[in-house]
Amino acid sequence: MANLATTALKGRHFLRVADWKSDELTVTLDLADELKALLTRGAPHRLLPGRSLALIFNKPSTRTRVSFEVGICQLGGTGVSITAEHTHLARGETLKDTACVLSRYVDAIVIRTVAQSEVDELANHSSVPVINALTDSSHPCQALADVMTIRERFGQLKGVRLAYLGDGNNVCSSLMVAAAKLGMSFVGAFPDGFEPTEQAQADAREAAAESGGSVEITRSPEQAAAGADVLYTDVWVSMGQEAERDLRLAALEAYRIDEHILALAGPEALVMHCLPAHYGEEISEEIVHGPRSAVWDQTENRLHAQKALMALVLR
Ligand code: CP
Ligand code: NVA
Repeated sequence: MANLATTALKGRHFLRVADWKSDELTVTLDLADELKALLTRGAPHRLLPGRSLALIFNKPSTRTRVSFEVGICQLGGTGVSITAEHTHLARGETLKDTACVLSRYVDAIVIRTVAQSEVDELANHSSVPVINALTDSSHPCQALADVMTIRERFGQLKGVRLAYLGDGNNVCSSLMVAAAKLGMSFVGAFPDGFEPTEQAQADAREAAAESGGSVEITRSPEQAAAGADVLYTDVWVSMGQEAERDLRLAALEAYRIDEHILALAGPEALVMHCLPAHYGEEISEEIVHGPRSAVWDQTENRLHAQKALMALVLR
């Protein structure tokens, strides 16, 4: 495993995609492919014997939590899942003190929470790597698995046209920046007011200028889908946005991935969704379980991509 010779990433936080260089992302994807192959043929790969991981979840999770817990176990380590409400965080202990405490026990901290600033605060005071497992504004671990899946299917990322339709949310923002860094052609179709943040757009445009990729934003789902190699969507109501449900569904109705949109994309175009899906809203169950879907590989690749990430950043 040539990639393991690299020590450059030891101790690094993974807080947002924009913080990592394209070659650092590529090293992670290469190792993820290797770890996937090893697991598939039942070969041992206990790269982190005796290491431990704290997992703080302030929002629900199925995939992220399970893939991190299983992943650290397969690497020879142990994961400790913490629900904030059962810790002193819920009683006012600061993130700073929590970071100092956990740094004395574990080799890395995974956190899913509301504000990106909470992840940054934890990282500022942690002496072990902090991994962002989703905030309101980003989901970098999802983006890693997504580009891994696209590269696996197309053999490359440069020039692959990725169309994202719907809400320019956390998943979209991280994916857009990752795609731009890796030379992809990203096109997002969003209703007025649902675009990714200015910061995410600026990060993506800067990355695309360096990589030779491109970033385009349109109001037209048809224009985005035309000739796309990958069609991607996510839920219209993210965790914490439940009060805006009616408004969001009405605004996003025209951005559904359906048979009409599929027909506009390339004949071999893949469909992706980070899950959980809300069938009848952004996509149908038939499409997610249909022949064009890469969703189940995408969800599996969360495990391999995060194992690679842990193997590279944990000391
Ligand atoms: N895609 C994703 O992050 O899923 P979970 O919310 O189940 O972790
Ligand atoms: N955008 C969704 C992603 C879930 C993995 C949310 O934040 O709820």
